[in-house]
Amino acid sequence: MKNTRSSLLTVALFTAALALAPKPAAAVDAAAAQELMKSNQCGKCHSADKDKGGPSLKKIAAKYKGKPEGEQAIIKNITTAPKVKLDDGTQEEHKVIKTKDEAQLKNLAQWILAQ
Ligand code: HEC
Repeated sequence: MKNTRSSLLTVALFTAALALAPKPAAAVDAAAAQELMKSNQCGKCHSADKDKGGPSLKKIAAKYKGKPEGEQAIIKNITTAPKVKLDDGTQEEHKVIKTKDEAQLKNLAQWILAQ
């Protein structure tokens, strides 16, 4: 009797530990990335698959596909205001995102790369 109870307890504890285990670091939080795009009005110039002033997210993802520097290139583009050319040929400084939180920037870059 005692043995059965303690093994049940072991199973219960093990299940609880699994449920509490942190998510793998590589998982992209899509909702957070989309919210960040929205609150920074990135959608004025970038849509999922249509060029709209700026390149579509699909195009950006394709450009960096399989390139290890993709994440940093994206972060640089949205934090350092490089001069960019809009579809209509005019030039302006690229919008700087309102967060400096490295984890949020990485999450957004990884989400864009997955489009
Ligand atoms: C006023 C229009 C405009 C807004 C707003 C804008 N972008 Fe862009 N973005 C552009 C243009 C134009 C390019 C193309 C640059 C090029 O190809 O030279 C670009 C390029 C990019 C790239 C690709 C850079 C590369 O290396 O190819 C990323 C990533 C990006 N934007 C993300 C964002 C994010 C995130 C936001 C919101 C914080 C944002 N953009 C807001 C116009 C805009």
